[in-house]
Amino acid sequence: MTIQGKKIVLGITGGIAAYKTPELVRQLTAAGAEVSVVMSRSAHRFVTATSLQAVSGRAVRDDLWDSSAEAAMGHIELARSADCILIAPATAHSCAKLAQGEADDLLSTLCLAAPCPIAIAPAMNQQMWQHPAVQRNIEQLRSDGVLIWGPDSGDLACGDVGPGRMAEPTELVAEIEALFGPQRLKGARVLITAGPTREPLDPVRFISNQSSGKQGFALAEAALGAGAEVTLVSGPVEIATPRGATRIDVTTAREMHDSVMATVGDHDIFIGVAAVADFRPDAVRAEKIKKASGHHAMSLELVENPDIIAAVAARPDRPLAIGFAAETEHILEHAREKLARKGLDLIVVNDVSDRRIGFDSDDNEVTLVTVDVEHTVPLASKRVVSRAIIERIADLYEQTTSPRSRQGRSARKL
Ligand code: C5P
Repeated sequence: MTIQGKKIVLGITGGIAAYKTPELVRQLTAAGAEVSVVMSRSAHRFVTATSLQAVSGRAVRDDLWDSSAEAAMGHIELARSADCILIAPATAHSCAKLAQGEADDLLSTLCLAAPCPIAIAPAMNQQMWQHPAVQRNIEQLRSDGVLIWGPDSGDLACGDVGPGRMAEPTELVAEIEALFGPQRLKGARVLITAGPTREPLDPVRFISNQSSGKQGFALAEAALGAGAEVTLVSGPVEIATPRGATRIDVTTAREMHDSVMATVGDHDIFIGVAAVADFRPDAVRAEKIKKASGHHAMSLELVENPDIIAAVAARPDRPLAIGFAAETEHILEHAREKLARKGLDLIVVNDVSDRRIGFDSDDNEVTLVTVDVEHTVPLASKRVVSRAIIERIADLYEQTTSPRSRQGRSARKL
């Protein structure tokens, strides 16, 4: 993957992580990119324009009213020429401005004027990051198609520990390289299930699980990044749909099953990330279940839900089928057994007894298991892990769509 000759606008806003930006510029220019730095007013308090000019080899800009720029419209000229805009660090304030479409300085104005991809690397105190207003802005930006890279979790400059660290320069360079990398799933149609299912007991209660949908949505984003057309069948989650994905909302396992079966025939790849409830109450009561006096226990009769991925893999026109497995013990043995029993091409397994990863966390560590190879993707954000999974899926997809395999498949169909 190369970013040789790519024109990157690096927007720097006023957060302490701005001290890492000369190193980011150095790594980008070392990889061959042409970096133009645009600073917000408060960014000057954390890093000097002199350092950034020295490492980028270009004048640093911060003025919407730069009379030396072509036709005195520096923002239009810069916006037209950029292949990508990365705002790093992106403060809470700059995220809010971008989400609102404000244009009161050079950086915010050129974000509106640029047709190229825009990415942000948020960096702030963990309390600020978790504030509902910030999260609302981030979800707005995600659905506007802005790429959200990070933040990482760990020690913060303010002394807190938690999510809010700017993604490391090396990681941001890898993201940019992936952005311009080959679109290995171009033309492929990918169907992804994500999130939990809810199995109602009565009008107010249900059985569900801890799945947040983050991993499934991150995979949808990675598949879109690799050029795929993506359909997301999602249980109830609080995440914005990645731009470009078609989303179908469902609640129960049976709804998810029916929705998948109705659409899977038009897809080349199926990725079952949803944490589908294995059982549901045998009947949904029409009225709220009452506590009976004198009874200190109650029992529920549960019946098995359909296994969606096994049904997909059993179809004569089956797509490439990829499953997930959350395990707490004998991780690999269980994964291999599931791969065989459900008839999958690949299973992605994670150890949910490890509290750093898994349900609702932003990070994951997984092992990719096929019949002949096992490969561990080390601990990283769900976004980075998703890219690694999509790369492996693209390997398998290329094998199945190679002319020889196509011949084999059509022979099987005959
Ligand atoms: O058997 P287990 O639930 O651990 O298998 C997990 C994998 O199977 C996941 O890919 C999940 O999406 C899928 N699954 C399914 N339908 C079910 C249960 C699990 O598609 N009823």
